[in-house]
Amino acid sequence: MDWREILYWLHEENERCLEDLWRRADTVRRRHVGNDVHLRGLLEISNHCVRRCWYCGLRRPHYGLKRYRMTESEIMDAVDHAMRVGCGTVVMQAGQDDGLREESISHLVRRIKAETRLAVTLSLGERSEADLAAWRQDGADRYLLRFETSNRALYKRIHPSLPGESSDRVAMLPYLRQLGYEVGSGMMVGVPGQTYEDLADDVELLGLLDLDMIGIGPYLPHPATPLAQRCAGLSAPSDRQVPNTEIMTDKVLALARVVCPLANIPSTTALATLNPFDGLEVGLMRGANVVMPNVTPIAYRSLYEIYPSKACVNETADALYERLRKRITATGRTIGTGRGDSPRRLLALQTSGPKG
Ligand code: 5AD
Repeated sequence: MDWREILYWLHEENERCLEDLWRRADTVRRRHVGNDVHLRGLLEISNHCVRRCWYCGLRRPHYGLKRYRMTESEIMDAVDHAMRVGCGTVVMQAGQDDGLREESISHLVRRIKAETRLAVTLSLGERSEADLAAWRQDGADRYLLRFETSNRALYKRIHPSLPGESSDRVAMLPYLRQLGYEVGSGMMVGVPGQTYEDLADDVELLGLLDLDMIGIGPYLPHPATPLAQRCAGLSAPSDRQVPNTEIMTDKVLALARVVCPLANIPSTTALATLNPFDGLEVGLMRGANVVMPNVTPIAYRSLYEIYPSKACVNETADALYERLRKRITATGRTIGTGRGDSPRRLLALQTSGPKG
């Protein structure tokens, strides 16, 4: 699918015409990654962050937010929980937290790999090349780093660089691949200032990056951030500004599936937050094949406030799993067993030998 067609679909609003896109994404999904829905246990290990991103509630200047960093034993308990509720992967996510030392993450990765059969995904922000290499050496399997938007000027505005650094997430992705990680990236939909053309560029970039995992969610304003406070002044003209709606996010999800047939793509928490009733199922029917139940201890969950009113903040992992199992099987899908490794990677290994 070329850029023009991507743009055409982003502008399409007719429900009946959109049925074609949903059908196409669902067919591609079934043919390339099958009917399994893989569960990844999302563990939010720290909400400290050194950055000042204009969109994120964890930003350092959000002084009102109580900060936490989970201990090793809390993390291992939660990992155990993730395993018991049927996850094949644990995703350790945090703000960009310098207090999470390279050695302590290394130690955790080695423990999880030695004591469980779980795949380990890290999502810890823009860490040094040495840290990323060490964790891969220790056995971490996957790394998630969303590029957020491919519009350089918009990215610079909403994701200010740290002193002495020039943040370039897109440039980090090939390095992660080179280290042997399965690589995940993605963007937000409907950030103030994001145009339809920008979003078409984003979708095209997903294809160019040939990703193993793709995370796409609607931008949800957090009142303690500049982007929410100054939204009116930052938005593109109303006919060019992408809305942060469920339908627009579903369109991007479906397009991502068509452009990257083999990627693992979650129906995200942000989507479920926008539509708690059936946002999750709809995402699964429009291209997604992964769900990420939150296994963070409840006491910490509400503090991991990337955006307000996150879905499932108060539900125990067991209750959540039970509900997810029912909801997933009700859509005619099966729950994946095993780690749910990247089909893209498996195919590359088959065709080009062990380097993939
Ligand atoms: N709304 C939606 N998604 C957000 N993220 C951060 N802040 C927000 C927000 N206000 C997303 C970013 C980040 C991921 C962990 O959460 O895309 O990469």
